[in-house]
Amino acid sequence: MMRRFVLFAMVALLSHSMVAREGMWIPMLLEKFNIQEMQSMGFKLTAEDIYSINQASMKDAVMVFGGGCTGELISGKGLLITNHHCGYSAIQRHSSVEHDYLTDGFWAMSLQEELPNPNLKVYFLKRMEDVTEQVLEGVCDTMSVKERESIITANIAEIKKQAVEGTHYTAHVEPFFYGNQYFLFVNEAFTDVRLVGAPPSAIGKFGGDTDNWMWPRHTGDFSLFRIYANKENQPADYSPDNVPYQSPVHFPISLKGVEEGDFTLVFGYPGRTSQYVPSWHIDMLGNHVYPKLVDLRTAKLKVMNRYMEEDRAVRIKYAAKNASISNSWKRWIGEIKGLDKLDVIDKKRNYEAGFNQWVNESDHRRERYGNLLKQYEGIYKDYTQYSLVRNYLMEYIGRTGLESVGLAGTFERLAVMVQKENPDEEAILKEKERLRDVIAKHFKDYYLPVDKEITQVALTLLKAEIAPEFLPDVFARIDSLYKGSVIAYVDHLFGNTLFASEEKARLFLKEFSHNQTQKLKDDPAYQLFGSLGTLDSLNHVYMAAMMAYEPERVFYPDANFTLRVAYGNVKGYEGADGICYKHFTTLEGIIQKDNPEVYDYRVPERLKELYLTRDYGRYEVNGTVPVCFIADNHTTGGNSGSPVINANGELIGINFDRAWDGVMSDLMFNPGQSRNISLDVRYVLFLIDKFAGAGYLLDEMTLVE
Ligand code: ARG
Ligand code: GLU
Repeated sequence: MMRRFVLFAMVALLSHSMVAREGMWIPMLLEKFNIQEMQSMGFKLTAEDIYSINQASMKDAVMVFGGGCTGELISGKGLLITNHHCGYSAIQRHSSVEHDYLTDGFWAMSLQEELPNPNLKVYFLKRMEDVTEQVLEGVCDTMSVKERESIITANIAEIKKQAVEGTHYTAHVEPFFYGNQYFLFVNEAFTDVRLVGAPPSAIGKFGGDTDNWMWPRHTGDFSLFRIYANKENQPADYSPDNVPYQSPVHFPISLKGVEEGDFTLVFGYPGRTSQYVPSWHIDMLGNHVYPKLVDLRTAKLKVMNRYMEEDRAVRIKYAAKNASISNSWKRWIGEIKGLDKLDVIDKKRNYEAGFNQWVNESDHRRERYGNLLKQYEGIYKDYTQYSLVRNYLMEYIGRTGLESVGLAGTFERLAVMVQKENPDEEAILKEKERLRDVIAKHFKDYYLPVDKEITQVALTLLKAEIAPEFLPDVFARIDSLYKGSVIAYVDHLFGNTLFASEEKARLFLKEFSHNQTQKLKDDPAYQLFGSLGTLDSLNHVYMAAMMAYEPERVFYPDANFTLRVAYGNVKGYEGADGICYKHFTTLEGIIQKDNPEVYDYRVPERLKELYLTRDYGRYEVNGTVPVCFIADNHTTGGNSGSPVINANGELIGINFDRAWDGVMSDLMFNPGQSRNISLDVRYVLFLIDKFAGAGYLLDEMTLVE
């Protein structure tokens, strides 16, 4: 590790003009890896201004919003901004046919009118720490994967416990570089978060799924919330006595706007990327998995859309589900095209050829890594099918996979622990405690008939779509024991598994010991789980090998929904031969798209009025109002709602999407075409002030003219 750091410093000095925008960087390591480059690109602040544990810094104003978005504070009174699509389910929950805030928008005109959201949580990062040594204590190369995992799990539990002792904070430890490095994150959560404002969907979701992932874009994708705290300014569950959170730091907002070439920085929570996978993985996704998933979702969306068009209540009910199904569906289509266009498979193959040559240059390396790529090749043959199978299953049951099957799988670790020669009773107890929580959470949102029917449908489709020789072994059993009837098999599964009933699962856990491991192995849900493999251990080795192969390269870790910094420049791009995209859009484009006949393009009357009277106030630029802009910041899902700041650390935009031509950046960043799309903060202010008449909110913001 150390050697890489030193070498990098030298390379960084040499390569300033080369500008590598790619990367999602770790805030506490900016000083080491990035700040010089950032400053050479125009950034005026220091690494400490972004992340510090000694003083208030920018990180204190950036939060995880809800389950998978970013938000940021824009006043000292807990006012936060995120995307409209991030606040969508909260807005939806307050909506009915009578109060249709999705359609009409919502604006609190005073604190009293702000709407509480019982299930909404935000949290801030208090500190992070490299805990690799502690996590790997007692682990050695010769151990089995399972052994290694159980030691790591126990170490992590201890680290977390110590990290939050005597505080109201929560902690988690995340693997980086496939477990070659570990970081601890200590967070502070707030649970009283109220809706302050949201534009109508005709603005916040303007262009709908037609424009989603597209540039040029004209979506006013923002919503406003406020964090409340108790009288001591501490986190507290909702109470009418709570008061606006006095935040130590908030983002000043720049009215000066952006020019092409300006420095931009995105500070937020990118969810998941796979930058270091081998060529076979790309082939698997681009040529096998994504195309099948796209077909599947096309069919689902067709049905859902028809019902939504027929009935307004159904439209409200299914709005959020539809948006999320359609979102990845469209991204996959873009990724398939982008991977092809960038020749990602060929690029990876070239890299692998070089890697193999390097491996063969020394006996030591040949011994260690000589089989690595061959193993991948062998594994991906099956894994491509498994992955398809697994993704198929995910598709039918939502985010969590087949529910009972997934729950059964959570027992795997416990089974390993009790089967050890000298079982660690304390660790077992802890693991049981954890599983008790898992079970409680699982069944809180569980309805057996749904799980069962989805299991039937998913398995039936699996059988139809996957070549028989690649079907998981469960289908052989279905053939021999159930005469090929998936329905009969699923009946059996749900009649016999311990994981479809809260009582049974809880009891099983309580009594779980060495003698019960056979019972677990016999459980049909656990067996089904067992037929889906994982690649984790190979990835761990390949990652370390790539780092040794390119000692001078500074690797940035794959996104894992931890706080990251991406930096770059405001920049247009060439979409295709002869097509050049500008870096910004304006209100003119909204009016040009206006079409009352098309649901996605109905411009609200009030906005048209403002346009006709040119009532733009201080937000006018060259006779119009700026709406969105693009830059080459490396972002992904989860970065939605992230603050986009200028060289002075002032808010200039809210990140909300990427341009379709570049969305393969989750697998390989394309400097020529990978662009993040941000809402220009001046459009936000214009809407709050002129469109909604909620200009009073601007009084608590810090505007920089
Ligand atoms: N594509 C953006 C993201 O990945 C926006 C999604 C919400 N909008 C939508 N039309 N589904 O989250
Ligand atoms: N809309 C995405 C989100 O919700 C951000 C777009 C992307 O994938 O970069 O996080």
